[in-house]
Amino acid sequence: MRETELLRAVELLRAGELVAFPTETVYGLGADAGNPVALAKIFAAKGRPADHPLIVHIADISHLGQWAREIPDAAHLLAKAFWPGPLTLILKRQPNVPDLVTGGQDTVGLRIPNHPLALQLLTMFNGAGGSGLAAPSANRFGRISPTSAQHVRDELGAAVALVLDGGPCTVGIESTIVDLSRDEPVILRPGIISAEQIAQALHRSFPLAPGGRGCHEAAGEGITVRPEQNRHSRAGGNPATSAPRAPGSLAAHYAPATPMRLVPAATLAAEVERCMHAGRRIAVLSVHPFAAHERLLWRQASSAAGQYAHDLYLNLRTLDQAGVDLILVEAPPQGSEWTAVNDRLGRAAFGSSGQ
Ligand code: TXA
Ligand code: MG
Repeated sequence: MRETELLRAVELLRAGELVAFPTETVYGLGADAGNPVALAKIFAAKGRPADHPLIVHIADISHLGQWAREIPDAAHLLAKAFWPGPLTLILKRQPNVPDLVTGGQDTVGLRIPNHPLALQLLTMFNGAGGSGLAAPSANRFGRISPTSAQHVRDELGAAVALVLDGGPCTVGIESTIVDLSRDEPVILRPGIISAEQIAQALHRSFPLAPGGRGCHEAAGEGITVRPEQNRHSRAGGNPATSAPRAPGSLAAHYAPATPMRLVPAATLAAEVERCMHAGRRIAVLSVHPFAAHERLLWRQASSAAGQYAHDLYLNLRTLDQAGVDLILVEAPPQGSEWTAVNDRLGRAAFGSSGQ
């Protein structure tokens, strides 16, 4: 059954169609990364600007050289430590990588996902003569990423030829992106693999010094984290630097359609009270419960960062569909294990009209 479905998926991909597939992070909208016609369908289905680069998913580290022309030692260290897994490496591209994959840049994003169905699909795709699968998160551009096959169907419908159902994603938020194409590693998007873990695998230092960089950065031994490069811009890349355009780093991203606001834990109860008093219908995502009311829907948030990340997009999606006027999200703690969750929540709130 599964084998037949996978064969069908490979056939569709080789014919230039889109196939959504599960990964451990979120569902991906897959297309043959070597086929510009297929790649164009990704941008059409997502409503995504054509200059925003895609991640190429590969089955095995031995395929890196087909996509990247320079593979620094750091890439080997990180691949060994975290692949297959929720980590994307940005490397200098091979000249034949389609511009639709790279957004016309000199780099390419690569990852080996840690999901049995994704790995099987990639292996069979290779067996059928394909190389890698370009796959952004399978949501409309700027919207909430899908963590189940049903989310993909709800969001993209007929634009996808086939959705492979691998159950709910175990991680729940997108991969950590590390740019290794420059003189020193830069984390472009935080994820469940933390800056500390990246630094440790690279034998570099972290946390950040007050200047925003790794303590020993001057000695070339630190890690730079720059996920906020476009925080105050909805327009994309920063023309003042050579930083790659990374839509996941746009301030307005992962957004529900319902206005959403992040509220400090200390003032949440007062804010809920104020909104209720004003006659607004609200949804609240918080660790501590609020009594149900005809104008208040409460949803439990986890107090553990990993579980919070796992539930995050399902929670936002559910609250977005509740038909309320406003979503209030209790701001999680600031500790380093919360960095990726806070990144996504900040962008979701910024992207909605609730701020
Ligand atoms: O976990 C994930 O990474 C998921 C699953 C499906 O693998 N994919 C994902 O893809 O999140 P997407 O397209 O939604 O986000 C990919 C991010 C974007 O912010 C994109 O700009 C960045 O990766 N990216 C891709 N190639 C890049 C490059 N060459 N330079 C800089 N950023 C790049
Ligand atoms: Mg995305």
